[in-house]
Amino acid sequence: MKVMAFVGSPRRNGNTDRIVRAICKGARESGHEVDLYHLAEMNNKGCIACDACQLAKVDFCSIDDELTTLMPKIAKADCLIVGTPIYMLQVSGVTKHFLDRLRPFLKPDLTAKHLPGKKYITVTCSGAPATAFSHVTEYLNQFFGYFRMESAGHIVAGSLHERDDIIRQSDILEEAEDMGKKIN
Ligand SMILES: Cc1cc2nc3c(=O)[nH]c(=O)nc-3n(C[C@H](O)[C@H](O)[C@H](O)COP(=O)(O)O)c2cc1C
Repeated sequence: MKVMAFVGSPRRNGNTDRIVRAICKGARESGHEVDLYHLAEMNNKGCIACDACQLAKVDFCSIDDELTTLMPKIAKADCLIVGTPIYMLQVSGVTKHFLDRLRPFLKPDLTAKHLPGKKYITVTCSGAPATAFSHVTEYLNQFFGYFRMESAGHIVAGSLHERDDIIRQSDILEEAEDMGKKIN
């Protein structure tokens, strides 16, 4: 299977990055082809509401950036992994930009194209205890449900302040690796 993983934290080797990479490690061990992207380091602009994707003026998106070049690959992927830190009670800004930019995968009648039936995994990391932000996982489930994608698991991690705090929650990293191994 082709797996594409997106990290929505600007912190390389931060908590979100480490959990997403643990999922990727497990997925590679199961023989999947995995590509990892750091959204904050990409030329990844916000949706400009030009509606070109809805008016079928373009294959995917009119914005000339790295994310648009990835869209055909997203269309062919079997599983998307999206990891985000909690910023001001929600997904991070770059993560939200990424989610907004998936509008080309919705038809004007709001039915989905390319993505239905594919798998997704979400990861959230917060400073507050994990239980504080289950609503963000619910939001992401609602989001991917809109595209008729199927959950292959989620990680909700909390009490993470310093970049490497997750190292002291080895059970979560093990759970993540296991989740990656089980993608099918
Ligand atoms: C701009 C900003 C806003 C944040 N907002 C919240 C918040 O609303 N609630 C919370 O629990 N943690 C918040 N945090 C803490 C991060 O969610 C937490 O440290 C997370 O583990 C960072 O993930 P990372 O290591 O992958 O960057 C915030 C951090 C930043 C930089």
